[in-house]
Order: sequence, then C-alpha cells, then structure tokens
Amino acid sequence: MADTNSSNSVEMRGITKVFGTFKANDNIDLTVKKGEIHALLGENGAGKSTLMNILYGLYSPTEGVVKINGEEVSFGGPRDAIKKGLGMVHQHFMLIEPFTVVENIILGEEPVKGISLDKKQAEDKVMELSNRYGLRISPQDKVEDISVGMQQRVEIIKALYRKAEILIFDEPTAVLTPQEIEELILILRSLADEGKSIIIITHKLDEIKALADRCTIIRRGVKIDTVNVADVSEEDLAEMMVGRQVEFKTEKPEPVLGDVALELSDLHVKDARGIMKVNGLNLSLRAGEIVGIAGIDGNGQSELLEALTGLRKVESGTVKIHNKDITNKTPKEIRDSGLNNIPEDRNKRGLVQEFTVAENMILQRYGEEPYSKGGRLNNKAIIDHAKDLMESYDVRPREPGYLAGSLSGGNQQKVILAREIHDDPDVLIAAQPTRGLDVGAIEYIHRFLVEQRNKGKAVLLVSFELDEVMNLSDRIAVIFEGEIVKTLDGNVANEKDLGLLMAGGDIDEK
Ligand SMILES: Nc1ncnc2c1ncn2[C@@H]1O[C@H](COP(=O)(O)OP(=O)(O)OP(=O)(O)O)[C@@H](O)[C@H]1O
Ligand SMILES: [Mg+2]
Repeated sequence: MADTNSSNSVEMRGITKVFGTFKANDNIDLTVKKGEIHALLGENGAGKSTLMNILYGLYSPTEGVVKINGEEVSFGGPRDAIKKGLGMVHQHFMLIEPFTVVENIILGEEPVKGISLDKKQAEDKVMELSNRYGLRISPQDKVEDISVGMQQRVEIIKALYRKAEILIFDEPTAVLTPQEIEELILILRSLADEGKSIIIITHKLDEIKALADRCTIIRRGVKIDTVNVADVSEEDLAEMMVGRQVEFKTEKPEPVLGDVALELSDLHVKDARGIMKVNGLNLSLRAGEIVGIAGIDGNGQSELLEALTGLRKVESGTVKIHNKDITNKTPKEIRDSGLNNIPEDRNKRGLVQEFTVAENMILQRYGEEPYSKGGRLNNKAIIDHAKDLMESYDVRPREPGYLAGSLSGGNQQKVILAREIHDDPDVLIAAQPTRGLDVGAIEYIHRFLVEQRNKGKAVLLVSFELDEVMNLSDRIAVIFEGEIVKTLDGNVANEKDLGLLMAGGDIDEK
C-alpha cells in the first residue's frame, strides 16, 4: 500500500508510548481505509487500548505521527478528535448514570448559553439515528436502569450524533450476550457499508473472521503484521498473537466423582425489584466435576450467583456445602466454609482500583498471617505473595506496586482469578471466568479449572459462551426462568439442543 493514500481515513506512523519506563506501544504503524472494518488483536496488555486512546486524543504519543484523512493532527483531547470525525466506545462505558439516555447523547452538544435548548429537535434526531441503524433505546430511561447492551447502543448513537466517520470500539462484545453480539455485528456492517471506518478490538477470533476485512496483530507493544482476514484461519491469528500454537480444546480425563459438595434445594431468590428470579432451583455438584450453567442472560443467573456468595437474600430453600447449611450466611462465613467465587461483575466487586496489585491480592485476608503480625502489616510477605501469583498467572507487567487501575483490562481479570483460585476452595464458582481474556490466557484458565476438578474440587461454571460451557463441563444444567429445566451430559450436548432448551423449548432424548 502507498504511504499516503486518499482512501486511508487513519494513518498512524511510528507510534511509541512510554509510561514511566514501560513501552506500551513501540513504533506501531496502522492504516485504516474508508469503509473498512479493521480488527486489532493482541494479548492482554499488548497495547491495544493505549494505541486507540492515542488515536482518540486521550493520550499524546511519545513519538509518531497521526493523520486523519491525509491531514496530520495533534489532538489535545477527545474534543479535538471528535471535531475530526472520530468516535470511541470504550472498554468501560463513560455515561452519566443519573441522566437519561437522551441527555447523555446530547450532552456537550447543546446550543450555546442563553439560547434555550431545543430538546424536541435533539430527541427527534436521536430517534432518527436509532431507527436508521436499528440501535434500540428507551430515550427517557435513566442510564443506571438500562442494560449493558443498551448502554453500548447509547454510546454508539452518541458518537453518530457527533457525526463520527471513524468509530473505535474497544472490546464491545466482551459485555454482550450472544444475541446482542449478532445484532452488533449487523450494525457495524451497515456503518461500514456507508463508508465509515470501524476499528474494533476483540479477543474473539470467530468475530474477527465474521466481521473484519483486515486485522492488525500487536504483541507486547510491537506490531507483528496486518493481514487480510479472508487469507488466515483462527489458528493462524492465535499463533501470530501469542507467538505459539494455542489449544482450543481442553483435554480432560474421565471425572472421578466424590461426595456431594454443593447442594441447592428448592431455591428462591428475588431480584432488586422484588421479582422472584430464582424460582425453585435444584442442583447438586459432586466433588471432582465441573457443572456448567447454560442460559440466556436474565434467567436468574446473576441472582443465583449473588445468593450463593452471600450478597443477596435467599427467600426460601437451602444451600449446603458438604452437607453444612450455609443459607443466608455472610460472604465471609461462606468463604470460610470453602466456597470461593470469581465474581461476575469484576469492575464493581473485584478490585479496588486505587489499591496496588499486592493489596488487591490479599483484599479479604489482610488481617491474617503472614500478611499481618501483631497488628502490623508485613509488607515483605504481601509483596512476595503478589510476586508469586503474578508469576503463576502471568500478570503483566510484574509490578506488585502498580495500582490496579493502571493494569490493562485483561490483566485486572487475571489478578482477581489468581486471588480467588489461590485460596484452594472446595467449591469454586466461576462466573464468566474468561470474559475479556486473550486466547492464551483463556487456555490457561481452562486448564486450571480442569486441574481443580481433577484435584477433587467441585466447579460451578456460569458462562454465556456456549463453546466454553461445552468444552469444560462434565454436566450442563440449562437454566430457564429461574429453574434448571434439564441437565445434559457434557460429552453429548450440542449447541442446537442447548439453544432450544435455553429458549424454553424441549428436545427428544435418546
Ligand atoms: N496510564 C497508565 N499508566 C501506566 N501503565 C499503563 C497505563 N495505561 C496502560 N498501561 C500499561 O500499558 C500496557 C498496555 O495496556 P493496554 O491497556 O493498552 O493493553 P490492552 O492491549 O488494551 O490489553 P487488554 O486486552 O487486557 O485490554 C499494560 O501493561 C498497562 O499496564
Ligand atoms: Mg484494553
């Protein structure tokens, strides 16, 4: 490709970004054409969000040149980027919760002071965009009350409202259900068909194959290649990204089953609005097995998880661990009874962003030996512990003193995983355990969960990724409207049967 080409909407040349002494981006080139969907692929911490934050004016590059439609730019902030036609939907949304959907969309775009805002006109324009691109929203709802999927649609309309022609999506599908992902793919296609440029960061290789025209692969801050997606397989992409071959299927021996480790009987749990979301659920897990829960979002999974970990009241029914009743105990009592939890909502419940990685690693254990002795914190023990875990779980960079908030999205996940799994629980609840992780890290976590099972732990896996559920589970329990409607053998379950059951249908059993 020529160096300067009028069909290129974005040209980034020789981009380097240094944080302290750490090179997050190292001499990266990226060009994106008009009407193209360009994927950015790379391991957790590879430098993808950093590169896009530079493009969007959030960071200035330490070195390098950015051109938009052939014109060299130097953005002082996102405001400048928006003026040049850029829009970004971030890894963590940036909406204002108490404001309505429409207010969020038009925020900052209202007419100047003194002239009263023509709200009606603004709303009409918002709804026109919503209809044109099939971005379903409830304009008058407050952002705090809408689903994650809708928050994302609001972010997209917000960018389109500001006339974005170059749209950056940082892991848009990590927080979506499979149904929402299919919708988003159609929306992105129609935007590209209109000549807009789309840059999308995703760890899901099948999405890249389904969606993108070209893909740029980054490894540890360095660009490896830009490829035509049609010319490469998912395996090729994985290998370029990680630098070795990746196993997509986790090997596991026949399960050796022990006693019942977790038993849920006739469980009833209400959601925040008082609606019964878990409605007479029965399920038991034996030591040495992985049971996966498959279901469409909103069928009681979140309430079940919260009730199991002591964060939500059980209305009736019982939860037992090794025959010991732990119904409605506190999170700490439940933990001490041998149940650990990789929480679903890791931004809210997982990490304290302003604490260091080392502090986060002992969040629930800071009063215990060896981390505390005679009422004083033992810093050396805390740091050593963090170093060990960071090594085993490949948290990058290996800096126990880093603030959790400055780690990349995927590395934040690894910190939580390390902390929760390390406690060696009898029962491990893994909710969306690989959300936001790269394929290499997923492979690692999958092996780890199987190892736990082989060691005689009971693992309850809750995931929207059917592939993940099918790959790992010895048994698959389908949840529908708060009940387990059927349990299938993990070796024979297929996507079609699961899909039917998840939608409330039935299947013929052989
Ligand atoms: N503000 C910052 N201060 C210090 N280090 C930072 C900062 N922002 C990013 N980094 C570091 O730069 C590296 C790249 O981070 P980045 O967020 O770009 O990764 P990523 O490719 O988006 O990863 P992920 O897939 O996990 O989201 C990480 O090691 C991260 O810790
Ligand atoms: Mg990122």
